[in-house]
Amino acid sequence: MRVHVADHPLITHKLTVLRDKRTTSPVFRQLTEELITLLAYEATRGVRVEEIEIDTPVTRTTGLKISEPRPLVVPILRAGLGMLEGMTTLLPTAEVGFLGMARNEETFEPYTYAERLPDDLSDRQCFVLDPMLATGGSLGAAIDFLFARGAQDVTAVCILAAPEGVAAIEKQVGDRDVTLVLGAMDERLNEKGYIVPGLGDAGDRLYGTV
Ligand code: URA
Repeated sequence: MRVHVADHPLITHKLTVLRDKRTTSPVFRQLTEELITLLAYEATRGVRVEEIEIDTPVTRTTGLKISEPRPLVVPILRAGLGMLEGMTTLLPTAEVGFLGMARNEETFEPYTYAERLPDDLSDRQCFVLDPMLATGGSLGAAIDFLFARGAQDVTAVCILAAPEGVAAIEKQVGDRDVTLVLGAMDERLNEKGYIVPGLGDAGDRLYGTV
């Protein structure tokens, strides 16, 4: 598994405003979109391309275009939805699928409560959007789900991660082709499962739930 922690002052600046508890939902949503566009640039470095011949006004030349089948972007509901616009700004031709993951409050096992994805993901490059990689339960289940459908490789884009979550995903994915692209690696999880210092509940901050 590859882990890429973004290292850019614009990303850190936007993250700092997201972390600030005084930041309102409209600003939080706007900044998330901008931040994800920057992370999407990092996350798509490995996007598959193929050569294409084109004519410029001056001459014939060879360029590159994104290969078929198109990449698939999968926000994990609910908070991953807030990352979709930023990702599709850079990958407008991607197909979008949806996964709703929740945790069984008795067994603590993640389960899928909603799914809108192509049946066959053979050869597909998948980009999963999940803002907070905390314990890794829902992201790990989403990654398993996509590989079980035949995905070729999975890149997860997260605004923040805790080291515990990254370690859990690393253990779970084994030698499958997985890349994590993170806005920052935070210190730890607290006893309530929140990332520290973190930014609180990403879904609540995006959608103004109190
Ligand atoms: N999910 C969140 O929204 N925030 C955290 O800190 C951890 C999980």
